[in-house]
Amino acid sequence: MALETVSPVIVDSLQGRDLLSLGDLSRDEFSGLLESALTLKKGWKRGDRPRLLDHKTLAMIFEKQSLRTRSTFDIAMYQLGGHSVLLSQNYIGWGVRETIKDVAYNLGRWVEGIMARTYGHGTLLELAEHASVPVINGLSDLLHPCQLTADYLTLKEAFGELGGVKVAFVGDGNNVCNSHLNAAALTDVSLTVACPEGFEPDAGVLETARAKGADITLVHDPREAAEGADVLYTDVWISMGQEEDTARRREAFSGYTVTSAWLEALSPRGVFMHDLPAHYGEEVTEEVVYSPRSRVFDQAENRLHAHKAILFQLLRD
Ligand code: CP
Ligand code: NVA
Repeated sequence: MALETVSPVIVDSLQGRDLLSLGDLSRDEFSGLLESALTLKKGWKRGDRPRLLDHKTLAMIFEKQSLRTRSTFDIAMYQLGGHSVLLSQNYIGWGVRETIKDVAYNLGRWVEGIMARTYGHGTLLELAEHASVPVINGLSDLLHPCQLTADYLTLKEAFGELGGVKVAFVGDGNNVCNSHLNAAALTDVSLTVACPEGFEPDAGVLETARAKGADITLVHDPREAAEGADVLYTDVWISMGQEEDTARRREAFSGYTVTSAWLEALSPRGVFMHDLPAHYGEEVTEEVVYSPRSRVFDQAENRLHAHKAILFQLLRD
């Protein structure tokens, strides 16, 4: 077993930074993140065990549920020689038992980084304003940057080059969709978003992505978006925190359920993607997720390697 041989590319400008939005990254920084994720993944698989974050600690704060984000950040820290501390609203009562500012000041004395999953994006901004260590967005109501980092790693593996890849996101213009807009602005993919009227992505994120030159088309017909796409991507209609709006959303998204028949419209190399968890029978059928075209569990696997790259670049000395 080669213990220390892996040496991922170092993106100098990311050291000590927050990762709250992919919109804060340059093209070079994003591509460096993906390169280092690939290197770390390959190295891990051939037996390299580099302790790149030896003795460092990540605090993980969750206001919402999680399987993938919680597990993979924890495992990533462990595999890089570090450690994580899991906190949740129930444990720390942040903003209730004590202020977010006080939580940030305390954690900054003990840990080298904080990953947080919040409802309001403003909570993350407040945390980052007061934390003396990097803050990573593990999903907010507005954005999910770590997911799209793993997804673009998956795209690189599937297609080699990202340039010219046609991505279709169909469904709710939610946090995952907004991060798709940001990711499109960092690469040469062409992105089509199909959503019902009234469920479009965030106007500010869209405007900024387009101003950076992103190739983004907005339509209201999901089958039109899927036609000839290399990637058909969807996400839940009812995100965490929107449960009270379930009936209205189910009605608005009728006609948006991705079924096996939709896969026939994709390009010959076309794949299906979903960040998970899936609500079967709503945005997608189980058959599609388990079909040969599906890259869903590659995406889940790549959360681990993408998070290693993010943690390495932000938290290293
Ligand atoms: N995709 C994703 O973020 O999964 P979790 O909510 O389980 O973390
Ligand atoms: N849009 C979903 C993503 C879950 C990973 C949600 O916010 O619940």
